[in-house]
Amino acid sequence: MPTFQTVRGMRDLIGPEAEAFTHIIAKARETAELYGFKEVITPHVEPLELLSAKSGEEIRQRMFIFKDLGERQVALRPEFTASIARLTTTALKNEPKPLRLFSVGTVYRYDEPQRGRYREFWQSNFELMGSAKPEADAEIVLLTNSLMASLGMKGFAFKIGHIGVIRGILSQDGVDEKTQNAVLQRMDKKEYDAALKLVESEKCRGMLEGLIEIKGNDWRDTVEQIKSFVAGYEKAKAAADNLAEILMLISESADITLTVEPAFARGLEYYTGMIFEIYIPELDIALGGGGRYDRLIEAFGGEPTPAVGCAQGIDRVAIALQEQKAALGTKTGKHVAVTPITEALKPVALKIAQQLRAAGISVEFEVMGRKMAKALEDADKRKVDYAVIVGERELKENCVMLKNLANREQSTVHIPELAEKIKN
Ligand code: HAM
Repeated sequence: MPTFQTVRGMRDLIGPEAEAFTHIIAKARETAELYGFKEVITPHVEPLELLSAKSGEEIRQRMFIFKDLGERQVALRPEFTASIARLTTTALKNEPKPLRLFSVGTVYRYDEPQRGRYREFWQSNFELMGSAKPEADAEIVLLTNSLMASLGMKGFAFKIGHIGVIRGILSQDGVDEKTQNAVLQRMDKKEYDAALKLVESEKCRGMLEGLIEIKGNDWRDTVEQIKSFVAGYEKAKAAADNLAEILMLISESADITLTVEPAFARGLEYYTGMIFEIYIPELDIALGGGGRYDRLIEAFGGEPTPAVGCAQGIDRVAIALQEQKAALGTKTGKHVAVTPITEALKPVALKIAQQLRAAGISVEFEVMGRKMAKALEDADKRKVDYAVIVGERELKENCVMLKNLANREQSTVHIPELAEKIKN
């Protein structure tokens, strides 16, 4: 019988990799807590219609779609946003706004696998629903900044734009929404020639070409450039004003490195306002991204509800931390191996293991029935801090042998004092 491999683009996470993911997820949860986001858990499988409605061509073509046994067209979620928007129109419909919702888990896209690009990957996701104000956009950027900083990420920078600038130009020059979406898809991939070819009006093409040239780290200066460039395009100008307000709030409240790029677009179609992505110099793939989407919830039959959110790609954040050799949080707590010397001592050894666990100490109990020497050799290999050896002679005194595997020191310890002794 041949052995099985994982499905292409899907990975097993083992040892340090699994630890890195757990660490990043814990930090994302802490950030959610810090910013007042409540966790929700939604299904991996959703109606195809929900997931494909406003996500855009790019995502639609890459979904894992199937019919369930009840002939329903369903798909594996390619992101969280549609599911959270669905929740807002159903179970959370009558909840007071704003809603701040956090999720974490795997999502699925049939991307071409390569480093940092998988078909099953993890996202931490934040959605803030019910506010159209720039402070809501600022909160989403600020929490992303906090999360990256709390992970010890260095040199990360935001790329920020506003989809209303490009759409404002395109719509005023008579480009229909379907073509706008196609143009934005190309621009997201930096296929500027292909994007420009879709636009008939020469004036409009000129505007897009000009917009592509605008880019800068000084947000005030760059936003001024955008504003004067789009003079006469009312909606594009309003979008630039909105972006300026958001950037003012962000820059006043935190030390954030950012580039303003008005021609920057994102793969997802539902965005209506500010959009952003986050990068580090060592990698040319985005670690996270998000933006404002004010019309998705009503498109799903809910009340018109402005919303803004973001997701971090945990697989990529893990790669970034590895590139930067960042510490993944120091291991806290002691790790102990408990071994009975004889078969007959198993019950009492197990009882001691339970007492240690109750005191918050991590215990590996000897389940292989090995002789002491073998068990200790193995404990050494596993980098266990202490071996607790349960022997007849010590038990008579209500004691066990405690062996420090780092310095090989061994002592007889009174069982009631064992937990304290190990912890200190
Ligand atoms: P997204 O930019 O499509 O946005 O995905 C967010 C992050 O997921 C990306 O920045 C990247 O780090 C990671 N990612 C995307 N594709 C892959 C892949 N194939 N392999 C590994 N990581 C990947 C969204 O998903 C939006 N739902 C974010 C959002 C929430 N916007 C508003 N609210």
